[in-house]
Amino acid sequence: MSRKKEMTKILMVCLGNICRSPLAHGILASKLPADQFYVDSAGTANYHIGDPPDHRSIAVARQYGLDISKQRGQQFRSSFFDEYDIIYAMDESNFNNIIKLARDKADITKVKLFLDEDDSVKVQNVPDPYYGDQSGFEYVYHLLDQACETLAKKLQTR
Ligand code: 4NP
Repeated sequence: MSRKKEMTKILMVCLGNICRSPLAHGILASKLPADQFYVDSAGTANYHIGDPPDHRSIAVARQYGLDISKQRGQQFRSSFFDEYDIIYAMDESNFNNIIKLARDKADITKVKLFLDEDDSVKVQNVPDPYYGDQSGFEYVYHLLDQACETLAKKLQTR
């Protein structure tokens, strides 16, 4: 008898949900089968609820063949701990902000620092490119693409 595989739900989280996490969301989703993995993103702040990603994130994604323009910003809330299996923070500040909303140990266990998934990446935090220029978005794209490639392989061989 074959049993249907359960959907794994993954959430990418940054501060504004317009620069880093929309890219992480789009890149990881593109590397995983959609019938087994649901990927979304959120921000810990409320600055950009309902907004599309930053035009520079949309541009760098488009350059590599990904359309993230239809994503819309949402703010992380405690109920997301019930909805998602794994919650990835883009940096340690995001990590701490998410943990503050945890209700119990089970919630805390779901939260991980995203770049910890790839030992070959030598930085811990995805830098916030918001106040920089397009080259920062290009750097972030490659960092995320590398870690997403490793993570997508790991998730599919579990
Ligand atoms: P993100 O970048 O956390 O990667 O989406 C930011 C976007 C917006 C702001 C800060 C960071 N902001 O202050 O509006």
